[in-house]
Amino acid sequence: MEYKISDKMINMKPSAIREIFKSLGTPGAISFAAGNPAPESFPVADMQRISAEIFANQAVQALQYSVTEGYPRLREQVKARLREKFGIGSENDDLIIVTGGQQGIELSCKVLCNEGDTVIAENPSFIGALNAFRSLGAKIKGVTLQDDGIDIKELEQTLRENPDAKLLYVIPTFQNPAGLTTSLEKRKEIYRLAQKYDVVILEDNPYGELRFAGEDLPTIKKLDTDGRVLYCGSFSKVLSAGMRIGFLLGPKELIQKVVVAKQVEDVHTNIFFQILCSRYMDECDMDAHVEEIRALYRKKAGFMLECLDKYMPECVSYTRPEGGLFLWCTLPDSISLMDFVRRAGENLVFVVPGTAFNCDESAGSQSFRLNYSMPSMEEIEKGIRILGDLVREMA
Ligand SMILES: Cc1ncc(COP(=O)(O)O)c(C=O)c1O
Repeated sequence: MEYKISDKMINMKPSAIREIFKSLGTPGAISFAAGNPAPESFPVADMQRISAEIFANQAVQALQYSVTEGYPRLREQVKARLREKFGIGSENDDLIIVTGGQQGIELSCKVLCNEGDTVIAENPSFIGALNAFRSLGAKIKGVTLQDDGIDIKELEQTLRENPDAKLLYVIPTFQNPAGLTTSLEKRKEIYRLAQKYDVVILEDNPYGELRFAGEDLPTIKKLDTDGRVLYCGSFSKVLSAGMRIGFLLGPKELIQKVVVAKQVEDVHTNIFFQILCSRYMDECDMDAHVEEIRALYRKKAGFMLECLDKYMPECVSYTRPEGGLFLWCTLPDSISLMDFVRRAGENLVFVVPGTAFNCDESAGSQSFRLNYSMPSMEEIEKGIRILGDLVREMA
């Protein structure tokens, strides 16, 4: 049969990162491509014990349908944690548990944007979000990401030129892919411009608790005085990515619509894992666990930077993240990024080309993303040495 694929899906490409995963089975391959948390960061023994307790004491609840808004105890715990860690969540806000931050992003766009409406995003940005916006028929306008956050002048111009912009999507803290953090001044400016041009901000903060250097900054949600910020978070990077538990905090009126949209998608987030997550927070020391992850990434990021300083020629620049999972390298114009990524792959070192994160899919890039949470220290050293030699050969 000849299938007629919908207009919505016909031009959607598979995620470049998921495609790279397929090449990783080769023995000796070193991947700096993934966005996965470190395997050693999962609290396996606690999860095993709590899972057995759930099936001993709460089996029916864990196996039955549940409410769309989320497991009530978990919602309370997340609200309390957001108040305690970030000082956010007012009486006008509500919180829904979603199936990963990925679903929170998609539902936010679904609730706010008609097909053809514009979503403004940092350029480059998180590929999962960009693909969610594309799949809903939104137009994406990218605004250059500078070292201290989005280019404010360009943002204002983009808002002025796109009166149909409904959503401004930003990852102000340890951005994916660039690993950069938006300064406090720019956070205030972003909020001011969102007020001036009357758009909702979707603040995506899955890495917010993973700071391993520098000082915490207030979230944009914390600056929100008129209920225009939806705040998306996740347990993926602090507890388990496979549990698929995220959350969306925002104005009650918007969250009510998100609840309806989620009912259509998956009724509710996996209730067994919601209970597991909740009991973990009740019975274990979440703060101590997060501190261990921070220490691990401090060590790995620091070592990757040491290796870059040692092995990478000076013509390559790279970001120095203060948290999160990624750093972002930029090649000189004399080297073709796609040739470099291909040849790195032939040498069994996998990186993601910056083109994958472009808002405009046809645009070029000179940058590539490196992940330090997944590879071992030995792989980091070997892989960066290979990449450095390759630059020298190609320059
Ligand atoms: C910026 C950003 N937002 C959201 C997500 C989605 O995370 P999850 O759906 O696992 O919660 C990711 C995952 O890598 C991310 O990097």
